Amino acid sequence: MKTSLIILAAGKGTRMNSDLPKVLHPIAGDALLIHAMAAGATLEPERTVVVAGHGAERVSAAALDHDSDTVVVVQEEQLGTAHAVDQARAALADAEGTAIVLYGDTPFVSPETLERLAGAAQSSDIVVLGFEAADPARYGRLVMDGDSLSRIVEYKDATEAERAITLCNSGVVACDVRRLFDLIAEIGNDNAAGEYYLTDIVGLARAKGLSATAVTCDEAETLGVNSRAELAAAEAAFQARARAVLLADGVTLQAPDTVYLARDTVIGRDTLVEPHVVFGPGVTVESGATIRAFSHLEGCHVSRGSVVGPYARLRPGAELAENTRVGNFVEVKNAQVGEGAKINHLSYVGDAFVGARANIGAGTITCNYDGVMKHHTHIGADAFIGSNTMLVAPVHVGDSAMTGSGSVITSDVEDGALALARAPQIEKPGMARKLMDMLRARKARAQRGS
Ligand code: UD1
Ligand code: CA
Repeated sequence: MKTSLIILAAGKGTRMNSDLPKVLHPIAGDALLIHAMAAGATLEPERTVVVAGHGAERVSAAALDHDSDTVVVVQEEQLGTAHAVDQARAALADAEGTAIVLYGDTPFVSPETLERLAGAAQSSDIVVLGFEAADPARYGRLVMDGDSLSRIVEYKDATEAERAITLCNSGVVACDVRRLFDLIAEIGNDNAAGEYYLTDIVGLARAKGLSATAVTCDEAETLGVNSRAELAAAEAAFQARARAVLLADGVTLQAPDTVYLARDTVIGRDTLVEPHVVFGPGVTVESGATIRAFSHLEGCHVSRGSVVGPYARLRPGAELAENTRVGNFVEVKNAQVGEGAKINHLSYVGDAFVGARANIGAGTITCNYDGVMKHHTHIGADAFIGSNTMLVAPVHVGDSAMTGSGSVITSDVEDGALALARAPQIEKPGMARKLMDMLRARKARAQRGS
């Protein structure tokens, strides 16, 4: 079964009161639009068309960054949902099969619901996703006749009797792609809003003897975001669901409400997550790891048995092999840390390779940036980097090599060698006492004089 996705994302989102286009506001680290695209992607569409309008350049960049095969079309003027879908006509000129229309500001429609919708479209010409609304407010109403959908009436155009209907339109529609564009071509804008309503395809289709029906889902899935308050509520709903999924999957969250998850966070069974941990996008943690309190992780991978934190920061490209230790106030970025290696205290390790079982002393810094370019540091297996070593990249420290504490390492260290790069200690006997006596005498003179 071939499908095409059309994601409407041209609206301004006036109530967000923002310079950022509404669909780019994030939930769980990803734009609303990306949530919608990811849900739709589970149908493995032949083509995904995003209809952008307000902030089209930024919307387009975000969509293409997520999936470079996406086609972005621009709706210059927002004349209604049917007009928005019509913008995808050329991009889908050769498409066949089912078209599914989603909204870019409705992030939680589940893949299972989309599967049911696409399945129902095999036996009905049009399928609309509806929901029983606790407060139907201004949603479009689904006028049913048994299992058959007669038409959709927008709140503004509805009679009192129609407004009493609680089965509402989510906006998600499935229809044969060729038929969809044929029907849209016939839609006018003679209604209370003066807009081209996509919802009118139902009445039009029925008048032609075609069939239409509704499938329903939980209202939580159709939740749209129109204001910052709704964005916050959507974020809370996402986090609550994602935490519950992790708990059910065998992850221990000591204080679930304090753990912030991203859309794509993956955590293995029997991993322990202490309170106040933030997972940004792109984190995978294997089974049996421990992420200690107040750690911040993004774009990284933590392997089995590793212990991260408390107060650790793993930035994009941090790859921890099994049984590593990354301790307090340690930042790791774009670095492979080998099995059993330890970076326990107060260090920065960036653009680096750390060999298996290496021990990185407290306060070690890979000086990776010269102000213009980034350079790489290699630390061999079983190396011992003394506390407060500055590794001035590019630099290579060999296997089983050592650096003396406080060294500034600017040239390569060969396997098994000890490198010392610090001023030699000199000692002046009695000098400390003499110095203190001199200073005290000076202070006493000053106090007498005042
Ligand atoms: C629409 C439905 C309504 C449904 C509700 C669910 C129509 C006519 N009405 O109403 O039945 O209950 O959604 O939330 O379809 N958009 C564009 N270009 C446009 C107009 C809209 O891209 O010209 C996008 C918006 O950015 C938004 C979505 O389409 O993501 C829905 O548009 P919106 O104006 O919010 O529709 P509603 O009036 O809420
Ligand atoms: Ca809306």
